[in-house]
Amino acid sequence: MEIIKTLGEFIIDRQMDYPDASGELTSLFSSIRLAAKILHREINKAGLADLTGAVGSENVQGEQQQKLDVYANERFKNALAQRGVICGIASEEEEQFVKFEETKNLEGKYVVLIDPLDGSSNIDVNVSVGTIFSVYHRVSPLGSHVTEEDFLQPGNKQVAAGYVIYGSSTMLVYTTGNGVNGFTYDPTIGVFCLSHPNLHIPEDGTIYSINEGNYVHFPEGVKKYIKYCQEEDQATKRPYTSRYIGSLVSDFHRNLIKGGIYLYPTSSRYPNGKLRLLYECNPMAFLIEQAGGKAIANPGQRILDIEPTQLHQRCPLIVGSPKMVDKVESFIAEFG
Ligand code: AHG
Ligand code: MN
Ligand code: MN
Ligand code: MN
Repeated sequence: MEIIKTLGEFIIDRQMDYPDASGELTSLFSSIRLAAKILHREINKAGLADLTGAVGSENVQGEQQQKLDVYANERFKNALAQRGVICGIASEEEEQFVKFEETKNLEGKYVVLIDPLDGSSNIDVNVSVGTIFSVYHRVSPLGSHVTEEDFLQPGNKQVAAGYVIYGSSTMLVYTTGNGVNGFTYDPTIGVFCLSHPNLHIPEDGTIYSINEGNYVHFPEGVKKYIKYCQEEDQATKRPYTSRYIGSLVSDFHRNLIKGGIYLYPTSSRYPNGKLRLLYECNPMAFLIEQAGGKAIANPGQRILDIEPTQLHQRCPLIVGSPKMVDKVESFIAEFG
C-alpha cells in the first residue's frame, strides 16, 4: 500500500531535524492549515452561500473589497490569534497592522504578513484564487506589543512563506528555507497530504505570464521582451505560450511546476508595479529561490534584499525560471 504522509507528520519529521525548534512554528502552521480548510469549504460553495460579489467598502489599496476578501481576512486573523505564538499580523485588507494583545500573544515570537485572498476578481467567475503568507521573527522584545518594525523587515529575514491555492484541488505549498514542498488537500479525510516533495522550477521554460492588455503602458525593455517571446525560433522553442490567469498564486504555481516567468512590471499606470512587496512579492520570492528560481524587481535588484519602508508598498515583480528572468533582466537593463 502506498504510504501517505500528512502535512502534520511532515512538519513533525522536519522538527526532529532541528533539535532547537520549540514547536512554535508547528503550532503556527496548524493555524494556517485550519484556516485554509475552512476557506476551502467556503470557496467551494461560494456561489451558493452568498459569498460572491463586493461588500461595498474599499481597502487601503483602493480596491473594492470582495465578500471573500473580508471573510478570508477574518478567518486567518482569528486562527492566527488563537495560539500564543504570534504577536500580530499585517494584512492586505487592513490599513494598520493588528496587535494581538492577550498575554499569550505578547509572548509570541512571530509575526505573519498575509494576502488572505489573492485573485479576488476571479471569485465570481469560479477561477482559482489563493492565500499567501509570510512569517518573520519579531524584532521587538518578547512580552511587549508588536511594532511596525516587526513587519518592515526585508524578505531575506523570512522564517517561512507559502501559499494555499484553491484550484481544481486545494494545495498548500510552503518553505521554511530548506526547499519547497507541496501538499494536496483530501477533503474526504480532511488532511493535506504530501504530493509534491522537494519542488524545483525548471531552469528554463516556455510560458510567459503578463497582463498584455497593459502593453502600451510598459517600459521599452518589457515591450521588447514580449516581442521576443512571440518571435519564432526553433532553438529556443519560441514562440512561447502566453498564460495569464490574473491570480498571482495560480500563475506562479503553474510556472513553478512547468517552468515559466511571471511579470508585473512598472508601467506608466503603476509606476511601482501593482503587487505588494510584503504580502505578495516577498513570500513568492522566498519560495522561488528555494525552488531554484529567481525573483527581481529591477535589473540587479533582488526582491528579498529590498528594505521596506511602508506596510502596503508596491513593487515590480519578475519571477520564475532563472534563465527566463535573466533574459528579461538583460532587456530591461538595455532598453529601460
Ligand atoms: P489581490 O486579489 O490580492 O488584490 O491580488 C490581485 C493581484 C494578483 O493576484 C494578480 O496577479 C494581479 O493582481 C492581477 O492584476 P491585473 O488584473 O492588473 O492583471
Ligand atoms: Mn486585493
Ligand atoms: Mn494578491
Ligand atoms: Mn488579496
